[in-house]
Amino acid sequence: MKKNEEFDRRTTLRGALLVALTSITTLLTKESATAASTNIIKTSKLKVGATHSFTTAKQGIPAILFRTKTGVFAYSTICTHQGCTVTYNKSKKSLICPCHGAQFDPLKGAKPTTGPAETPLAAIKVAIKGAWVVEL
Ligand code: FES
Repeated sequence: MKKNEEFDRRTTLRGALLVALTSITTLLTKESATAASTNIIKTSKLKVGATHSFTTAKQGIPAILFRTKTGVFAYSTICTHQGCTVTYNKSKKSLICPCHGAQFDPLKGAKPTTGPAETPLAAIKVAIKGAWVVEL
């Protein structure tokens, strides 16, 4: 009987320790995620309908940021065909690759619409945080 009581106490302590460690890990993860965002441009400098080219802080790759009435979004400008740099053509509302003519629709997840590319441009996580557009 005494062994069972000791076993129960150990099991309870292990459970409590596990809950405490999980809580600490969750808090640290949330704090890291918050601290990891990087300012890209002040929201006041990016009007609705405008774009802004930038280099991502995390991967150091070229990217383009869009602001629409509904918010902000961004994509890598590295073409998914063979890696050339795409540019935004405002009149065509399309991201166009100069190398082999692939075109991507930024309003539809940067999916390819024309040319040899088969996969969308990589999305970059961004958000409006206070007075800034930030990379998450
Ligand atoms: S590298 Fe962009 S279409 Fe080929």
